[in-house]
Amino acid sequence: MCGIIGAIANANVVPVLLEGLLRLEYRGYDSAGLVVTNHGLQRVRTTGRVTELSKLVAQQKTEGFAGIAHTRWATHGEPSERNAHPHFSGEDSRIAVVHNGIIENHEAIRLHLRNKGFEFLSDTDTEVIAHLVAFNLRQVTDLFKAVCMSVAELQGAYAIAVMEEAHPERIIAARNGAPLLIGVGKNGTYVASDTSALLQTTRDIIYLEEGDVAELNSHGYRIVSCLHNQLGEAVHRTIHESNLSNEAIELGPYAHYMQKEIFEQPSAVANTLEMVLNAQSISPNLFGSEAEKIFSKTNHILILACGTSYHAGLVARYWLETVAGMSCNVEIASEYRYRDPIADENTLVIGISQSGETADTLAALSYAKKLGHQHNLAICNVPESALIRQANLRFLTRAGPEIGVASTKAFTTQLASLLLLTVTLAKMRHKLSLGDEQKIIAALRHLPVALQHALQVEPQVKIWAKSFAQKRHALFLGRGVHYPIAMEGALKLKEISYIHAEAYAAGELKHGPLALVDSEMPVVAIAPNDQLLGKLKSNLQEVHARGGELYVFADADSQITQSENLHVIRLAEHAGLLSPILHTIPLQLLAYHVALEKGTDVDKPRNLAKAVTVE
Ligand code: F6R
Repeated sequence: MCGIIGAIANANVVPVLLEGLLRLEYRGYDSAGLVVTNHGLQRVRTTGRVTELSKLVAQQKTEGFAGIAHTRWATHGEPSERNAHPHFSGEDSRIAVVHNGIIENHEAIRLHLRNKGFEFLSDTDTEVIAHLVAFNLRQVTDLFKAVCMSVAELQGAYAIAVMEEAHPERIIAARNGAPLLIGVGKNGTYVASDTSALLQTTRDIIYLEEGDVAELNSHGYRIVSCLHNQLGEAVHRTIHESNLSNEAIELGPYAHYMQKEIFEQPSAVANTLEMVLNAQSISPNLFGSEAEKIFSKTNHILILACGTSYHAGLVARYWLETVAGMSCNVEIASEYRYRDPIADENTLVIGISQSGETADTLAALSYAKKLGHQHNLAICNVPESALIRQANLRFLTRAGPEIGVASTKAFTTQLASLLLLTVTLAKMRHKLSLGDEQKIIAALRHLPVALQHALQVEPQVKIWAKSFAQKRHALFLGRGVHYPIAMEGALKLKEISYIHAEAYAAGELKHGPLALVDSEMPVVAIAPNDQLLGKLKSNLQEVHARGGELYVFADADSQITQSENLHVIRLAEHAGLLSPILHTIPLQLLAYHVALEKGTDVDKPRNLAKAVTVE
């Protein structure tokens, strides 16, 4: 949440800052701002989006050789110009700060600084950092040292970039708990929340580590680690060459990133499965060199995740129990971290996260470790993320950057990875014959084609979307392993079309929610031809008999025929274990097209942001 970028170069950096902010806008879009040095600090802020900021910057002819910029997801203080970053401290020689994260002890520091005469002009926790740096600067007279001293006093998560009016030739950056990387360019040095913001200038990237403070100037940088020492010790950090392609972050021929990402799923899943598609068997090494040793001791799985990633975990529970005979709990990370669960050293804890930055998931994993869980596995889409760095075992989904706020290709690639894990554990526990393993590998090889086929229902979904757009509520029904898919369908619809949608295990309907059913309540059902189809059909009858309008995504062999108030879109024949992955596609398309009908901001739905780095 919140994106930051800084640049210091031999030329005007304003275009770099604005382009970087556009790339980072998925992290928050409540307001935007920048500051550049040009005979003093010049600041431009707006409650609008980055395009609005660009207009203001053009009108005001803002230019400078060094600057920092921010796109905000509001935590402390409403989205307003006053609360937009950068925040200032001081009058004679001002300090400017941009910040991603949350300072948990901001109130105590604010009180202390107020007593020292500092005046606060915003409601943000970030302004506290600006004043704290200014306060410490009085004692040490060097911005780098002042930032090192200040971060030692901050509790919480932050990535910050700081400038000082009196010394415009440098930017100081620091990270703790929120991502921050340096770009080493030929004509300048840059800092940003992610690589996509820097590709415009360089592919040479340094990932800062927790506690790092860096000084950037136009021809280089230096980094110290302030983890154990307030004034830091110089450290070396490797420069990585990013292989992120421009196409991966460009919209190309698509209208929205969400549309692009839905249609990328065949290739995203193929990339994720690449290592097994040509193999004859699935090996534990896919999850890391220690995996075989750890898996051989594992007798229970605990999955921790949030949102869509949590839904992926719920699907995996069915697979793990049925195919691998492995017991599994799936917990919402924000709940788990505040319970008193019982730890067991033979439990493998799995953190699932697209971004690898989700604060609750990271905290839940740390908590699980503290409780005594020895081993964990990260399933994640971002190689340098905090989640990947802190795990013993890891599996990278290779979905490519997911920019639309609603998660799509991350989910299906998570499911593909979790199926690989299921097969691995099933084999190790002698629950899967060689023949059955071969059948699953063959089905996985076919999965990208099957996904392509599932995408072809789009024209029929578009017709349904027109009537959904008129509704205020919707119910989603599924049974067994498709119940979490119904949950995912409901989440997609509510987050981008703002239609209130709830998912129920279809068997639960008569225990309460059936009371909601009338002609104004569309009921979406997922009807695969599995062993629960007969039961599901009875549940659908219950809805039909009460005048409810049913929209059913049925397998071709499910034998559900269209009739009055019963609309059916047919997918391919039942795909066995892969069925939940394929049934996800029409639900994503439905949410997307309903949102288009309603004219909402598909890629940037209100109140949300992509990487939830705060509690
Ligand atoms: C919904 C969505 C969110 C995320 C959740 C966890 O479309 O994207 O529910 O799934 O915020 O995010 P990650 O997977 O990055 O941990």
